[in-house]
Amino acid sequence: MLKDTLHLKAPGNWINDPNGFIYYKGKYHLFYQHFPYAPVWGTMHWGHAVSEDLVHWEHLPIAVFPTKEYDQNGIFSGSALEKDGELLLYYSAVKYLSVDENNIHCAEGDDYVTSQAMIRSYDGFHFDNWKDKKEIIPVSRVEEIAHSKHTRDPKVWEEDGMYYMILGSTIAEKAGRVVFYRSSDAVHWEYVNQYRGGRYGRILECPDLFKIGNDRVFMGSPMYILDDGKEYMHNALCALAEFEPKTCDLSLPGKYQFVDYGLDLYAVQSNVDADGRRVMIGWMRMPCEVQADDRSDWNGMMTQPRVVEVEDGHIYFKVHPAVDSYMSKVLEDDEMLDFTKPYRIQTRLAPHEFVDIGGYRIYIEEDILKADRSKVFKHYKNHRLTSDTPKLEGRYELDIFVNGNIIEIFANGGRYVLSNIVYDLRHQLSGKIDKIMVAAELL
Ligand code: FRU
Repeated sequence: MLKDTLHLKAPGNWINDPNGFIYYKGKYHLFYQHFPYAPVWGTMHWGHAVSEDLVHWEHLPIAVFPTKEYDQNGIFSGSALEKDGELLLYYSAVKYLSVDENNIHCAEGDDYVTSQAMIRSYDGFHFDNWKDKKEIIPVSRVEEIAHSKHTRDPKVWEEDGMYYMILGSTIAEKAGRVVFYRSSDAVHWEYVNQYRGGRYGRILECPDLFKIGNDRVFMGSPMYILDDGKEYMHNALCALAEFEPKTCDLSLPGKYQFVDYGLDLYAVQSNVDADGRRVMIGWMRMPCEVQADDRSDWNGMMTQPRVVEVEDGHIYFKVHPAVDSYMSKVLEDDEMLDFTKPYRIQTRLAPHEFVDIGGYRIYIEEDILKADRSKVFKHYKNHRLTSDTPKLEGRYELDIFVNGNIIEIFANGGRYVLSNIVYDLRHQLSGKIDKIMVAAELL
C-alpha cells in the first residue's frame, strides 16, 4: 500500500485539486483530480486517499472515473457530504464537443460543456461508477444564470436543514462569478442567486464558503488575478464574506488576501475536522515531474492541512494540532538531521537575519518576509523565483516545514503563509535557526 506522510503526493503521474475532503465514519477521505497514465493533465478521474490523523495518508484505488455520456471526458473538481450515513460526492461532469484527434484527453478547440453530477457510496470505499451516478444540474443554456462550459467545482454544505451549492463560473470568460443552488434533499437542486463581483479574475474556480463562529469566509481561485504574464497568473484568494442563506445573497465587501503568498498554491478546499475545526488543503503546482523509488514519475502535491481561523478581521492559516504534535521532537544535535525526511525549523528573525535551507533563502526586508528559490528552481524561466508577504509589523516568528519538494513557512502564528515548490535542495542549513524538529517515529 503506497503511503505519504504530512503531504499527500501524486501516487504516480498527475494530480491537481483536492476534492471531496471529508471526515466520514472515523476517517479523513481526500480525493483529488488525477490523470493516471502520465505526469501531465488529461481526462480527469478522482484519485483517493484516506488518513486517520491528517498526517499519515494511504493511497487507495481510483474512486470516480468517466462512465456516462455526460462525464465521458472528465470528472472535474467537487466536494463531499455525509447524508443519512452515505457519502455523497458532487463533481463537474465534462463532455467535449469533439476530441482533439492527436490527444483524446483534450477537447478540440478547448470546446466542451459541463454539467453537475453526483455519485453515492454507502461506505466511502466502494463506488459503483455505473449504477450510483446521477446528473443533477444539466448544462446551463441560459448565459444569465451560468456559463455552459465554465461552471464547475460544486462545493456543497448543509445549513439549518437545507443544502447549498456554490459553483465557480464566469461572465463570458471576462469576469469571475459564483452561482448558488439550493436543495432540501441534496439531490434535487434549484437555482437561487449569483454573485458578480467584478474583482475576481476572468473565471472563478473552486469556490468555497463557510462559517467560522460568527464570521463567514469565502475562498476561491480566480483565473488571471495576476495579469503579469508570469507563472502563475491564477491564484487562490480568501476574503471575509456576508451571506444570507434565504436569498443566497453574497457580498465580499473587504479586501482579499492570498491564501498563500508563495503563489504556487491553487484550488483550495476546506471542511471541518473531527473536532470541528475548519481545515483547508490545497494543491501545490509543480512545473515538472519528480522521479521516485516508490512510484512512477509524479507531478503535484497537497499542502499539509491548515486550520482556518478569523481574528480581528484577518484570516489565519495555522499549523494543524495533529501536525504540530507529530513534528515535535526537538533535535539536540543538528548532525542527526536526516534531510530525506520531513523536518521543521522554528526561528525568530531580526531584520538583518536569514535562514538558508539547502539554497532556499528566507529573509526579512523592509518588514516583509521574503523567500528566494532561484538556486533551487533553476530550469524554469517564467516562474516567480522570489515571493513576499505583506508587512509583518516588526515580528518575524517563523515555523517552517520542509518535506522533499515543498517548503511551507507559517509567519507569526499563521497570519501569513508562504509556500514554495523546490527541486534538489542541498543537504545543508545556515543562518539563524532556533530549533530543528522532526517526527519521533521517523528518527
Ligand atoms: C482548477 C481546475 C478546476 C477543474 C479542475 C480540472 O485547477 O481547473 O476548476 O474542476 O481543475 O482538473
